[in-house]
Amino acid sequence: MAKSALLKSSIAKKVAMALSGLFLILFLAQHFFINSTSVFSADVFNSISHFMGNNPLVQFVIQPILILGVIFHFIMGIVLEYQNNKARPINYVKNNGAANSSWASRNMIITGLVVLAFMGLHFYDFWVPEMVYKYVEVNPLDETRYFAELTHKFESPVRTAIYSVSFVLLSLHLWHGFNSSFQSVGFNNKYSRSLHTLGYAFAIVVPVGFIFIALFHHFNH
Ligand code: HEM
Repeated sequence: MAKSALLKSSIAKKVAMALSGLFLILFLAQHFFINSTSVFSADVFNSISHFMGNNPLVQFVIQPILILGVIFHFIMGIVLEYQNNKARPINYVKNNGAANSSWASRNMIITGLVVLAFMGLHFYDFWVPEMVYKYVEVNPLDETRYFAELTHKFESPVRTAIYSVSFVLLSLHLWHGFNSSFQSVGFNNKYSRSLHTLGYAFAIVVPVGFIFIALFHHFNH
């Protein structure tokens, strides 16, 4: 491929990566909001979970889009990493990358793969049993089961620890990813500074909040 065509296609991939990342950030914000209700009220958490788990639009339209979004983001991440490595004649390590870039930005593939491994465990913990409960065993509707299912998972200290460590890596992934996505989509105006501050705040508040939720249920139930 000619050099300019190659450059264009890799810019397109970066934009696609950024847009899918921003979409996943929106999902993460609503997921965090719903989970945080479990700290304040079992009833509220149960009602929202019941709605999300049984609404046809959420189940059969939004959920498949979300899962495709995760798969797309993962595949593009691997492709971009491969392309960047091929295009870079001297390795970052030899090039002393630390002098002009952050650890988080140089290790997006590592933090991303840890988050992906976490998602594997997380789906096995919550999503798979939910699908089996609803669509395989076809159990009767029970609006009050969600809170108990959630707290039961965090009885295990090992699971609570794995979740918490994964959230630290999620924080690092978001620290670079959120802000670099604005750059990739060309968002550069008088609001950029405020948006960067919001990006860094999100990268800390949301993962720390998830850690709090996991520890809260571990120590309270
Ligand atoms: C303490 C932290 C967390 C708790 C307690 C939690 C809990 C849950 C629960 C209860 C479900 C519902 C499964 C279902 O009914 O289908 C779920 C689904 C899911 N979670 Fe989490 N979650 C946490 C953190 C995260 C994080 C950090 C991510 C992403 C990096 C994530 C990604 C997902 C995804 C993609 C689904 C599937 C959504 C769907 O059903 O379509 N979760 N989680």
